[in-house]
Amino acid sequence: MASGDVWHMEKRSSVRNDSFGDKADTESSLESGSLSIIVLGASGDLAKKKTFPALFNLYRQGFLPPSEVHIFGYARSKMTDDELKDRIHGYLVPSKNATPEMSEDVSNFLRLIQYVSGSYDTEEGFQLLDKEISKYEYEQNRQEGISRRLFYLALPPSVYPPVCRMIRRYCMNKSENVGWTRMVVEKPFGRDLQSAEQLSSQIGELFNESQIYRIDHYLGKELVQNLLVMRFANRFFLPLWNRDNIDNVQIVFREDFGTDGRGGYFDQYGIIRDIIQNHLLQVLCLVAMEKPVSLTPEYIRDEKVKVLQAVDPIKDEEVVLGQYEGYKDDPTVPDTSNTPTFATVVLRIHNERWEGVPFILKAGKALNSRKAEIRVQFKDVPGDIFKCKRQGRNEFVMRLQPSEAIYMKLTVKQPGLEMSTVQSELDLSYKQRYQGVVIPEAYERLILDTIRGDQQHFVRRDELKAAWEIFTPLLHRIDEGLLKSVPYKPGTRGPAEADALLEKAGYVQTHGYIWIPPTL
Ligand code: NDP
Ligand code: BG6
Repeated sequence: MASGDVWHMEKRSSVRNDSFGDKADTESSLESGSLSIIVLGASGDLAKKKTFPALFNLYRQGFLPPSEVHIFGYARSKMTDDELKDRIHGYLVPSKNATPEMSEDVSNFLRLIQYVSGSYDTEEGFQLLDKEISKYEYEQNRQEGISRRLFYLALPPSVYPPVCRMIRRYCMNKSENVGWTRMVVEKPFGRDLQSAEQLSSQIGELFNESQIYRIDHYLGKELVQNLLVMRFANRFFLPLWNRDNIDNVQIVFREDFGTDGRGGYFDQYGIIRDIIQNHLLQVLCLVAMEKPVSLTPEYIRDEKVKVLQAVDPIKDEEVVLGQYEGYKDDPTVPDTSNTPTFATVVLRIHNERWEGVPFILKAGKALNSRKAEIRVQFKDVPGDIFKCKRQGRNEFVMRLQPSEAIYMKLTVKQPGLEMSTVQSELDLSYKQRYQGVVIPEAYERLILDTIRGDQQHFVRRDELKAAWEIFTPLLHRIDEGLLKSVPYKPGTRGPAEADALLEKAGYVQTHGYIWIPPTL
């Protein structure tokens, strides 16, 4: 490890001081004793691309001290420890960042990993897993300490129920009163309201809500975490953030690549289940919710649920679906597939703050750029003596990725002798303003939250249910073929119908102005 235990303690306490002072967080940060992190589905795509790299980054920053932590990979594939390590090795450090110090960190990190092979629904594998965890815990806890077991299900949701049953039966933390067992479950959590509720009940019979961490990695993104701070810690926004001033809100996700070998999975789900029902809807909650009583996770999640419950049923005429040409060339995708790879959906929130303001959620694969952003467009200025309308409306934009930034588009005087106006921006570009600050990966942050027992950035069961209630009728209509996906060319903005819907919803595009992220 690059740094010793002293650094590790400092790091932990500084993060604690910067946190919102949540009680559970503070208390659990003080925990010590053995921590076993078990990645189920360790042979898979998510594990190698996201879970292990996130654990490595936490390790490098001193959050996973080797004196306390051991990492187990579990899957059916027959592999040795070394084979698993070879599989993940190349994903831990992007080659452009590789330094000799990093290589040493990688070797030390890989030493913490052990692989156990077994099936997901029979006792032998889980008994063996428990034996290995217990052996490690026994070695660690000869000194005073507690045992903590964190199970990360990097698995298809179809196997969650048997896996949860096996963990409950064979692999729980053995001490009654100290330590804990926590489960991180990945999306997609169900395919619709009924399947999600069924899955929730099956898992809910085995674990308390406080043990279940439903991950939505968008909640771990830096700018998403800044949303509540922006809204509730700044006087600017308090009087403006409502239907009197805001004309429309867009929450946009674009990718400039297609389903990239995940066509088989994707075709079962489509872009609404993959991105909109979870990632974009979670962002919408934070944009639209009322101020929570405090920053206690349950108060925040209560407010998110209230917003979701106030969303009106989606109207077919406020939906555009698209499928990029070439999507069905993937051999795992049926030739008859109507699965949308693009969707624009207008949501309407029926409450005092938002009545009449369209929330336009837009997501697409194989488009002309990769970006995710929140764009809040304000109404026109009344009594427009400067003819600002010509230039375009005020907008508040949070660019979630890439080039994280928060900027406000506004009208200013064009410098010079003439009294003419021009669009410009107040720009908080992170690379420029926070030079040298490394923005943590979402998974890194969320795994750390799980270790600390902080559920603020995880989806609660009633929140999930409310999210599925919004989208299930629409999804069923799509599954029944009542709504069709229109074709669009890869590398474009998506179907032209989506731009028409945007305009109909009230969005006014600014012509002749483009925000350019500053270069250093
Ligand atoms: P994989 O398809 O790679 O599956 C992970 C592992 O699970 C496989 O290595 C395999 O391990 C086992 N597995 C696969 N299919 C089955 C099956 N039908 N029955 C039993 N075991 C199976 O999935 P990912 O790693 O891509 O994703 C894991 C979870 O994370 C999923 O819920 C996915 O939706 C979610 N997710 C994935 C993302 C990604 O970028 N990959 C992004 C966001 C979420 P073995 O055969 O060795 O047991
Ligand atoms: C995942 C989706 O949840 O998010 C993928 O399943 C998508 O289809 C990914 O590519 C995007 O995540 P990010 O963090 O790159 O925006």
